[in-house]
Amino acid sequence: MNPFPLERPARLAVLASGRGSNLEALLKAFPPDDPLGRVVLVVSDRRQALALQKAVQAGVEAVYIPWPKGGRAQFEEAALQLLQAHRIDLVLLAGFMRLLSPGFVAAWPGRILNIHPSLLPQFPGLHAQRQALKAGVRETGCTVHFVDEGMDTGPIILQRRVPVLPGDTEESLSARILAEEHQAYPEAVRRVLRGEAWPGSRI
Ligand code: GAR
Repeated sequence: MNPFPLERPARLAVLASGRGSNLEALLKAFPPDDPLGRVVLVVSDRRQALALQKAVQAGVEAVYIPWPKGGRAQFEEAALQLLQAHRIDLVLLAGFMRLLSPGFVAAWPGRILNIHPSLLPQFPGLHAQRQALKAGVRETGCTVHFVDEGMDTGPIILQRRVPVLPGDTEESLSARILAEEHQAYPEAVRRVLRGEAWPGSRI
């Protein structure tokens, strides 16, 4: 059953592995006084992730949990405990470059979102922008979706289209898509928090 909308601001957690520009967009879109929701926790599997620094700068709790060689169980156990302790309502993967186990996803039904730099189901997995250039498509974009057990396969919440221009490099195309991601992710989160999107309820 869809738990949203809540009768209080939702508590959001962001999982990020790198630069954290989507995290920044989410922090900006959901400031501490937003009645719909606020980012209260940022978790990274990389100690050096810029995302952790950005969280600290924004006054949000930032936690590094190592992703141990040969297994994600330890990471997931620690992350689950942390999410529970912070009474998180919705988990947002923002450049989190790991695949979560079916068990982890099942513990958060309909409560984990991801952003991906392509028009899924096209170009899932790594280097989506490179894949688009290689395929010679004239249009690509970004997708915000609910996370299921697959790799970039869950129900889609929204997509934004981006043209591929002559002479585009992976960098120029990625930058054009990223600008759309920064609009798309907050908008998708708003839809979920308002109760307007839920896996199974196609929008
Ligand atoms: C974004 O382009 C995001 O869509 C992508 O990583 C980048 C993270 O940038 N995610 C994936 O490819 C997931 N499969 P950011 O750290 O600046 O938000």
